[in-house]
Amino acid sequence: CGALRMAAEFLRLCETDTTVWVSAPTWANHLPLLGGAGLTIREYSYLNPKTLEVDFSSMQETLETAEAGDVVLLHGCCHNPSGADLSLEQWKEVTSLIQRKGLLPLVDMAYQGLGEGLEADAAGVRHLAAAVPEMMIAASCSKNFGLYRERTGALALISGTASVNSAATSQLLGIIRSHYSMPPAHGAAIVETILGDDGLRAQWQDELDGMCKRILHLRHAFADTLAPVGDFRFIARQRGMFSFLGISPEQVARLRTEHGIYLLDSSRVNVAGLNDQVLPRVADAMNDVLQ
Ligand SMILES: Cc1ncc(COP(=O)(O)O)c(C=O)c1O
Repeated sequence: CGALRMAAEFLRLCETDTTVWVSAPTWANHLPLLGGAGLTIREYSYLNPKTLEVDFSSMQETLETAEAGDVVLLHGCCHNPSGADLSLEQWKEVTSLIQRKGLLPLVDMAYQGLGEGLEADAAGVRHLAAAVPEMMIAASCSKNFGLYRERTGALALISGTASVNSAATSQLLGIIRSHYSMPPAHGAAIVETILGDDGLRAQWQDELDGMCKRILHLRHAFADTLAPVGDFRFIARQRGMFSFLGISPEQVARLRTEHGIYLLDSSRVNVAGLNDQVLPRVADAMNDVLQ
């Protein structure tokens, strides 16, 4: 959150009327984090509400209307709230569009390692970073290091020259000073200790891998258990913690009040909050509310 807000404050300092394009839908906090800094927010089509998959041609169509210098916010992996990610082929096409139109990518990377793995989850972002002249990446350690309340993450800037980077960094440090002055140290020290030690790093990767596999397993098991209720195979194709079930707020309310199953009114579920034991019960409840 700090990286996103500082990126937004920086963009606003560089150009007072900056437009940032966000996916429809996007993580709800993107709107206050970016809009609160004074950026104009516009939406690009992303999720097809019927299939709950990426509507890539609509995404391209809306981004074609962006103007040079506009910022495009992309979810690095594990799109929140939909779980619907771009394929590597689609990342390549978005990269070409960004290059051709002179847009500035801002990547929010909040779930690296929880989609398919640390490397695979970064493939699209790496492709983009190798191709564009400038880019910003807001990375979080909240989930992949289990450090949610320690405010640990980073804003990375990529630019063509070292002098632009150092000028941008000094502007950013000024912005940070006028907001929170100093970031908390302890979470970052934990991450530094783990990444700086081969043994601890391997142990962390192993544990993260276990979490990733658990979520992937649950995605398949959830879709399979729901098969008699309806076609939920998209859940198995999606990545990360979240997916929409595609049911109405009234049906969500019935899951809550009649079955004690909790999800957002938008029908976004946290797949990681399930386990094999509760899946049949969830499927029965879904069957009931969908009647
Ligand atoms: C897409 C997205 N970006 C950023 C964040 C925030 O990360 P942090 O806890 O590091 O502020 C979240 C977490 O909830 C998120 O889902």
